[in-house]
Amino acid sequence: NTYRIVVVVGSIRRESLNRRLADALIRLAPADFAFHHLRIDDLPLYNQDDEEHPTESMQRLRREIAEADGIMFCTPEYNRSIPGVLKNAIDVGSRPYGYNAWQGKPAGIIGLSSGACGTAMAQQHLRNILAVLDVPTMAQPEAFIQFRDDLFDADGGIGPGSRDFLQGWMDRFAAWVRLCAKPRNG
Ligand code: FNR
Repeated sequence: NTYRIVVVVGSIRRESLNRRLADALIRLAPADFAFHHLRIDDLPLYNQDDEEHPTESMQRLRREIAEADGIMFCTPEYNRSIPGVLKNAIDVGSRPYGYNAWQGKPAGIIGLSSGACGTAMAQQHLRNILAVLDVPTMAQPEAFIQFRDDLFDADGGIGPGSRDFLQGWMDRFAAWVRLCAKPRNG
């Protein structure tokens, strides 16, 4: 059985370092894990008035989360919190009232920023949000990554200086998903 992981990158810019980090991490995952990037850049700003007629993009997001066995959040920090585009996507997935696509999906949080705090405060905010959504979020290891030129190798993988640490993170994340994921297909 394959574990299906939805990857949520909290940046929608083309050259996002967090997307590069997510893609490099995916290469460190076990063979029975399959990853899929959740698209968040075509969602409307969440508006409760529109809930009776959700857009195709909103329905797609909810469906893809619901079908996942786990979530990997890889986000930058914007002004000491998570970017608004990520919060918007989380809000869309948490509604309509009484339905919450995120519920029970084991999650891991990681992030990369240019600043020395390496997304630590954004990650703490994200943990708060995920708690109310009943998402079992891996507590340890924490991973606060500050960008350096040698973080990635020439091939787009994780460079040698960080590889052991990030392999350890991925190993723990995979174990967390295996522990918490709900059985599918009976
Ligand atoms: C930032 N950046 C930033 N970095 C940080 O460490 N702490 C912060 O609070 C902020 N705040 C912030 C706000 C806004 C509006 C922007 C645009 C940027 C810098 C940020 O870490 C850097 O731009 C990353 O490269 C963004 O991630 P992506 O887009 O490369 O994935």
